[in-house]
Amino acid sequence: MEIKRVILNNIGLFENLTIPLAPTEQNPSNITVFVGNNGAGKTSVLKALAISLSWFIARLRTEKGSGNPIPEDHILNAANAASIEIEICDSFGVSDNSNQNESEHHFKWTLAKSKQGRKSQYTSNLYDCTHLADRYRDALTHDYKTSLPLVAFYPVERVVLDIPLKIRTKHVFLQLDGYDNSLSQGVDFRRFFEWFREREDTENESGIPRDVLNQLSSLAETNQDVWRWLNERNASAKDRQLTTVRTAIGQFMPHIANLRVHRQPRLYMAIDKNGKPLNVAQLSQGEKSLMTLVGDIARRLAMLNPALENPLAGHGIVLIDEVDLHLHPSWQRSLCDRLIETFPNCQFVLTTHSPLVISDCKNVLVYALTNGELRQLPSQYGQDANTVLLDVMDTSIRNEKINAELNDLLDAIQDSKLSKAQELLAELTEELPANHLELVKAKLLLRKQELRHANH
Ligand SMILES: Nc1ncnc2c1ncn2[C@@H]1O[C@H](COP(=O)(O)OP(=O)(O)OP(=O)(O)O)[C@@H](O)[C@H]1O
Ligand SMILES: [Mg+2]
Repeated sequence: MEIKRVILNNIGLFENLTIPLAPTEQNPSNITVFVGNNGAGKTSVLKALAISLSWFIARLRTEKGSGNPIPEDHILNAANAASIEIEICDSFGVSDNSNQNESEHHFKWTLAKSKQGRKSQYTSNLYDCTHLADRYRDALTHDYKTSLPLVAFYPVERVVLDIPLKIRTKHVFLQLDGYDNSLSQGVDFRRFFEWFREREDTENESGIPRDVLNQLSSLAETNQDVWRWLNERNASAKDRQLTTVRTAIGQFMPHIANLRVHRQPRLYMAIDKNGKPLNVAQLSQGEKSLMTLVGDIARRLAMLNPALENPLAGHGIVLIDEVDLHLHPSWQRSLCDRLIETFPNCQFVLTTHSPLVISDCKNVLVYALTNGELRQLPSQYGQDANTVLLDVMDTSIRNEKINAELNDLLDAIQDSKLSKAQELLAELTEELPANHLELVKAKLLLRKQELRHANH
């Protein structure tokens, strides 16, 4: 399942905006990234997508389910009504046969909303949405292990993590619970923890307890067959869904392993960081937010794809606002590649303020938003961060005052005003680090000019 494009009419600050999403012919990756100043409308685009997709989930859960309406304050202030049109491509349930009609794969629905007491030029049409959801429900009826597409939105608020100290309730988690709060809260750590604990209980019940295995190991040492049998038995009892989550986290953060629930004497979630055990609550904000983001996507994929050998290969749509939040530049840099590697069949729609996110992955589709207008940017792949800051994010790469002083210095050298140049150079040398590239260059230029003058 994949969003082909979305059309926003009077949503937020956009009057009329059509946005095709990757993969496109030019940008065959599964990632679309929005950049733009504060208030450019990036979050508004993601929210609109989430609202539109919430209807699909609602109708998948129940035949006449209702998703989220467009909130009144999302309607452009000067307008009476708004609409979101979405075009989805989904080949589920259609056999791969060249005679098939293209329209079999395409689903288009419109959600409209007018302000109170106003008339609307737009009307909702959710026929295709219902039809697509019906297909999945049909399939589920015949085969309860049918794979369902993931749809999830991770808003900025995801980083305020509520790490529960006590778990009172015990839930039973079913396949469709993979959609629980997936479009409203982002990472629901409490639910994640509860789920993890429930799965681990099952894992522990069906496997051979670790202490028993340890005791048996000395007995089995002399008999390789017994040892192999014991190990295999234990491996097959490992919970597939937990393995999925642990694998995804391990791929993203190789220094973090073995996520587990610690039970005695106190219940908490633990990991091994560089081989040392740690309470999850002790991790840094960046580590926590990345781990829970990746863990949550993996968990939902595992729940929604009960029959897949590798649930990380499940399909779906994931929207992440400010994907670089709290992340160190080197993590920002590899983010898109890791998303593609870990979740190869998910379509990602991201927003970012980081030049590194968009300059390090081939084939991503990058849009810049300014004043309600959308501009597709040429590929930034391989571009250095300064160029991206300068060209794409309209940000000077250096402190303005230093920049002006450096320019004055270069002008003075160029115009052979040597004593002025020496004065400026001395001032800048005091202020800047010794290895400042522009300063070193200016020093060399000045030296050349001085020599030339001495020779005359
Ligand atoms: N109903 C509305 N009518 C007109 N303009 C609106 C409306 N709602 C929001 N806006 C404008 O849209 C902007 C909100 O954009 P949004 O939150 O999507 O920005 P953003 O690109 O995500 O910014 P940031 O990088 O700060 O998160 C606001 O600055 C506001 O001016
Ligand atoms: Mg925003």
